[in-house]
Amino acid sequence: MIQLQHVCKTYGEGENAHHALRNVNLTINDGDVFGIIGASGAGKSTLVRCLNLLERPTEGAILYDGRDITGLSGRALLELRSQVGMIFQNFSLFQQRTVLRNVTFPLELRSEKGEAARKRAMELLELVGLADLAERYPSQLSGGQQQRVAIARALANNPKVMLCDEATSALDTRTTASILQLLQDINRELGVTLVVITHSLPVACKICNRVAVIDHGRIVEEGATAAVFGNPQSPVTRELLANDDMLAAIERDAEKGQEG
Ligand SMILES: Nc1ncnc2c1ncn2[C@@H]1O[C@H](COP(=O)(O)OP(=O)(O)O)[C@@H](O)[C@H]1O
Ligand SMILES: [Mg+2]
Repeated sequence: MIQLQHVCKTYGEGENAHHALRNVNLTINDGDVFGIIGASGAGKSTLVRCLNLLERPTEGAILYDGRDITGLSGRALLELRSQVGMIFQNFSLFQQRTVLRNVTFPLELRSEKGEAARKRAMELLELVGLADLAERYPSQLSGGQQQRVAIARALANNPKVMLCDEATSALDTRTTASILQLLQDINRELGVTLVVITHSLPVACKICNRVAVIDHGRIVEEGATAAVFGNPQSPVTRELLANDDMLAAIERDAEKGQEG
């Protein structure tokens, strides 16, 4: 279980202070696919980066199974990071390494080298459906394939939690669906808790069992996905839903136009 208690994150100081997170309180249960949705600049990435201390909260506590991690450093911090995988919108692969050597990278950091690392990496590539592309370089892959490599790499340490920051935002609709399916399988079959950051309501609807809506650094609504989207309480959520309907309508009209 992950608990955020009164988490604040302020960038800069004095006149330049920017309050990216304001008194965030959230509980993410083991096995959740927990969505954090909000407009650009709302604080989503800051929130998720606090969960593995890529950013340190200015105030508040973040508890993993009851233990506050906000003060960790050195070995304990590395240990935390190995328990918390992360994937990004731009995939963040090592361009100079093959697919296989991207996936062995976290293992090498733990001094697992040679045949054992290779075998484990090949199992992970099998899991994400890319075993036959192990010797390629990232630039020789499609976006969806690159994200699969990133997912395999994130799983190399057997994390309990995986953070997904706009993981499908650079992908087309069909590729998005296949990556979401893979993430769902990882959640269900490996029991990995997922924290899914997205500005896309369809993405959140498709895989999240719970969602929180963030606006200007504050959580304005939280609950079971169907309840939040079916009966939104906050004006911000209603606006997100209205914008989404509007986008869907524009897309429909555009398609009709094409058909003549
Ligand atoms: N390193 C930083 N220094 C200063 N301001 C930042 C930094 N990172 C993010 N911000 C600001 O914090 C706010 C939240 O950013 P972010 O968490 O990236 O939002 P989101 O992911 O929802 O788009 C934005 O206004 C952004 O400009
Ligand atoms: Mg972001």
